[in-house]
Amino acid sequence: MSGNSKQIITIDGPAGAGKSTVAKQLAHKLNVSYLDTGAMYRALTFKAIQRNIDLEDEEAIVAMAQQTNIDLESHGLRAKVLLDGKDVSEDIRSVEVTNKTFYIAQKPRVRAIMVDWQRKLGAQKSIVVEGRDVGTVVFPQANKKFYLDANVDERSRRRMEELMEKGNEVDKDQLTAELKERDNKDLTRRVGPLKKAEDAVYIDTTDLSVEEVI
Ligand code: C5P
Repeated sequence: MSGNSKQIITIDGPAGAGKSTVAKQLAHKLNVSYLDTGAMYRALTFKAIQRNIDLEDEEAIVAMAQQTNIDLESHGLRAKVLLDGKDVSEDIRSVEVTNKTFYIAQKPRVRAIMVDWQRKLGAQKSIVVEGRDVGTVVFPQANKKFYLDANVDERSRRRMEELMEKGNEVDKDQLTAELKERDNKDLTRRVGPLKKAEDAVYIDTTDLSVEEVI
């Protein structure tokens, strides 16, 4: 991206709408950094599970978060997530972490810490950032905002493909049920819910290729 001013492009939307694929490629094309905020919530959840910390205990999670360092590195189209220096890029994509991240994501004080981290990263450089609340809460002043969506069957199909590529066995009905459950939790939480920013461009990706969306 040209010029001296930092550019922020936000991409929000539900799981399986194509945010990660599009955000990574767009960042690569524009030669700016890619920031995956979901990876931060996942990494924190992974750490709490490993340490047997009660995911309902906000006090304990906040204390843990304050002692945590999460680094996101982009290497071309590959993104690496480092939790306290250790590569957890694969660990944080497990079904267990995916289904338990909502505990942490619904805690206001934990979100405040995450939003703070994300803003600090955004203050340093131009970024394409993806999540649920990045156009509404984290970067309301972003230069460009997008909201990606797709119908639930297509989103579930994409998730299934992704999991099967990694060698997981998947039950389509169970996956769809989990996806709907996650949507519901993301849409209805009190703080930082999934929501289209008023000034975001809405894109239904159901019948579009990645290239077309970009
Ligand atoms: O984007 P991804 O599917 O990896 O996000 C995992 C979970 O993290 C979401 O289902 C959501 O609960 C939470 N999240 C969030 N706010 C964000 C990004 C993700 O609450 N900005």
